[in-house]
Amino acid sequence: MNKIYKIGIIGLGQIGNYLYRELNLKKKYIETKTSKKIQIIGISAKNKNKRRKYKIDKNIFYSNPFDIIKKKPAVIFEMIGLSDGISKKIVEKALNNKINVITPNKALIAKHGNNLSKIAEKNNVNLEFEASVGGGIPVLRTIKESLSTNKINKVSGILNGTTNYILSEMENSNLDFKKVLSKAQKLGYAELTNPKLDLNGYDAFAKVRILSSLSFNSKISSDKCLMEGIENIDLKDIKIANQLGMRIKLLGLTEVISGKLFERVHPCLVDKKSYIGNVNGVMNAIIISGMPVGESILQGEGAGPGPTSSSLLSDLISILRGSTKKPFGIPSHEQKKLKAYNLDNYSNSLYLRFEVRDVPGVMSKITDKLAKFKISIKRLIQTPDHKSKKATIVMITHKTTEINIQKCLKIINKDKDTLKFPTLIRIFN
Ligand SMILES: NC(=O)c1ccc[n+]([C@@H]2O[C@H](COP(=O)([O-])OP(=O)(O)OC[C@H]3O[C@@H](n4cnc5c(N)ncnc54)[C@H](OP(=O)(O)O)[C@@H]3O)[C@@H](O)[C@H]2O)c1
Repeated sequence: MNKIYKIGIIGLGQIGNYLYRELNLKKKYIETKTSKKIQIIGISAKNKNKRRKYKIDKNIFYSNPFDIIKKKPAVIFEMIGLSDGISKKIVEKALNNKINVITPNKALIAKHGNNLSKIAEKNNVNLEFEASVGGGIPVLRTIKESLSTNKINKVSGILNGTTNYILSEMENSNLDFKKVLSKAQKLGYAELTNPKLDLNGYDAFAKVRILSSLSFNSKISSDKCLMEGIENIDLKDIKIANQLGMRIKLLGLTEVISGKLFERVHPCLVDKKSYIGNVNGVMNAIIISGMPVGESILQGEGAGPGPTSSSLLSDLISILRGSTKKPFGIPSHEQKKLKAYNLDNYSNSLYLRFEVRDVPGVMSKITDKLAKFKISIKRLIQTPDHKSKKATIVMITHKTTEINIQKCLKIINKDKDTLKFPTLIRIFN
């Protein structure tokens, strides 16, 4: 236990400040588990004098994070969180200086993971990012190590706690999207200034990209097959889904179909009795289907300082225990470059909601147009509101292709009796 493994912490926000405290509290325990001595030699944030939840040692505070890199620590934690800019520069600089890097920064890994892993491999150091997907759920290491000889076919699940909380709470409280969003912001489940990246599916899509790369031994893609968020989910849809024995969930899915990578994030109708239909609130869950292992499910808290720090410290332990691993579990030159699947060909059962004028013939106009595009109806619910002379028509279709439904909805939307663009939610099976 002679050598001291020096550690630098860059970013002392929600995650960094908690991690700093955890690392101090668990120092002895980590040393016992790894038989290595550790020492935090530098910390950095934007503002040295900001009041933080957990007290920091200002004697080791560096206003310029690059000064910590100059001290040549064994490991740095990057926890600023940008997809580019200073976060990218710090990680590149550290790796090029043969410093191991740990980061929870999914935006950075999803955008620059291909290049950063090359730099890490070239310099024979580790780049670990367990906390970037699923917070405290040990999903990446499970895929990378525990399931490493399996052929993974598909990964799907709830990858964003904010949106899962909002959808669950809309159902429980009967409140609309805006009111529940503001409740989520008050409880700290949604960002105050810019919740958009959670709500529009961007955050979940970054996680899907990382999962794809690890699962299919492929380069991180830059295509976007399908990304839809929950901003347009109406309380009405939640109530109707309930009547149908279903729930709405924002799912992230990735699979390889005929050699093409199909990555998507969108709201799905799921059976209330299914496993995924019962993952509610801020919980995340990931289902991994592989051969010969079959289906493995991991569920847990997908965000927050505690769960995220748990993953960050597991990365540290992994590095201290030794051996350099490839960031994506396979040498980067062996990773395949997969082309994107053509969304037009994707075929699915759908939930459609039309808001129309309650006038004679309106229903047949819709069904005629659907028939023209070979879209057949499995179930239909019509709710007229005679007072306002408006009606809500909900249809569940048999399987139909994306290209057909998108063309058809555009035509229906142009009809004078259609009051707003129809709502489409795909049904998960
Ligand atoms: N929050 C979660 O639940 C969660 C879960 C999983 C993953 N993550 C990831 O964890 C990372 C950090 O998230 P967070 O919620 O902790 O963010 P945050 O609270 O906004 O913290 C960002 C930190 O970066 C510091 N910073 C900003 N610019 C800097 C600069 N130029 N030099 C040095 N430090 C700088 C800030 O300094 P000041 O404090 O002085 O302003 C702050 O301490 C992100 O990549 C995020 O995606 C977060």
